[in-house]
Amino acid sequence: MGEMNVRLAFAIIASAGFSAFQHGYNTGVLNAPQGVMTKWLQMDALPNANKTVDPNDEPTVTSIWAVAVSIYCVGGMIGGVITGVLADRFGRKGSLLMNNALVFLGAGLEGGSYYANSSEMLIVGRLLIGINSGLNAGLAPMYLSEISPVSLRGSIGTVYQLVITITIVLSQVLGLSSVLGTSTRWSLLLALPLLPAVLQCAALPFCPDSPHYLLFNKGNDKGATKALSWLRGGADVNSEMEEMHQEAEKTKIRKKVTVRELFRNRQLRVPLITAAVVMLAQQLSGINAVIFFSTDIFYKAGLSQSTAQYATLGMGAMNVLMTVISLVLVEIAGRKTLLLIGFVGMLLCTVALTVASLFTSIVWVSYVSIALVILFVVMFAVGPGSIPWFLVTELFNQSARPAATAVAVTVNWTANFIVGLSFLPLSLLLGSYVFVIFAVLQFLFILFIYYKVPETKNKTIEEITAMFRQHL
Ligand code: GLC
Repeated sequence: MGEMNVRLAFAIIASAGFSAFQHGYNTGVLNAPQGVMTKWLQMDALPNANKTVDPNDEPTVTSIWAVAVSIYCVGGMIGGVITGVLADRFGRKGSLLMNNALVFLGAGLEGGSYYANSSEMLIVGRLLIGINSGLNAGLAPMYLSEISPVSLRGSIGTVYQLVITITIVLSQVLGLSSVLGTSTRWSLLLALPLLPAVLQCAALPFCPDSPHYLLFNKGNDKGATKALSWLRGGADVNSEMEEMHQEAEKTKIRKKVTVRELFRNRQLRVPLITAAVVMLAQQLSGINAVIFFSTDIFYKAGLSQSTAQYATLGMGAMNVLMTVISLVLVEIAGRKTLLLIGFVGMLLCTVALTVASLFTSIVWVSYVSIALVILFVVMFAVGPGSIPWFLVTELFNQSARPAATAVAVTVNWTANFIVGLSFLPLSLLLGSYVFVIFAVLQFLFILFIYYKVPETKNKTIEEITAMFRQHL
């Protein structure tokens, strides 16, 4: 950690800290208050809803709720698509700053929906905050990767996922009925993202844009040197600038790469497929089936409703803890090793869970299942949680990074959306065997990672892209 300094730490928090807050918090926020909010939809917001049945059995209520939950990922997909264009046009920092406008609108609408008794405001708000999160997921890791010294690129990149895991737990704690998850306070819960947005608007202007962006996109040599020496706490930046100049020389011939070229050019298509498959693997591992439905899973395994809620919080805390450990491990063990250990661990847990589900009548087996679910999340946090976000930024040089990131982030949110929509219907259909689908997918992803993903630890981007050229 020798190369860390106060300014670099400030830039990490001001950019990724507040951006990942939106991503994690809004991922988890509708989980805990579902009961009070569906009641509100039934009684106040949807005049035609049947008021006499349980809100969970009211079709208009359940479908509006499903839309409010899942449209967030649709927003994420849209945000992913426009990431590259914005990052090039307004810079990483400029785009991150502008992105807060979507929070002001989105969180404002969500919080206000309570006062207006408007389900439409809730849904539009969720869509906008989803677009914000999709953009964050591309812009923030890109900025992090471009401001990091090579030896810390993985650790710094992991911060994005670390803040996601912390803010998922935060949203679940704040959503408890003893805090903001009540019939009158949930609007505060949903408006809370305004706070990190204000903080980002106050803090990020003090940080420079990415030196890479300043040099490559703006041709601003002086500005890039100034930015870099700010980020390095005044240390000598000559050799780093020299490397950037060398890369700039080579990329001059290539100019900016469009999404279409990414698919056409074999030299770019191979890393693109690698980045996209790793994103797919993150989501299709089934992680969010567990993150979202853990309380229900624990409840069915024999815990009481409130103990199940606390078990979910415990699981979230383990997710945070393991992500902290992986932040250190990623520069020692490397990206590929941690991805493999994580996915193999998840596969073993999934298989064991499926076997355990055949013996639910035995009491100790249900406790084993609970432990397995938690272990599943821990294995996810070893590497599959954090690495995909920054791996894509490592596989491409400056000219192709924005377009490639856009594709990879869009793939991630699309897969997230598909799992979110299909998990409940599939588990109704297949029972516990739904996990067999995840196990098969995990197995295929392990093979892919083993054979196709290169190790990028401690390598400059130039060295990494050269590896792909050699393999063609
Ligand atoms: C990753 C996934 C996200 C998931 C989270 C859980 O960030 O992209 O969908 O909810 O990990 O820690």
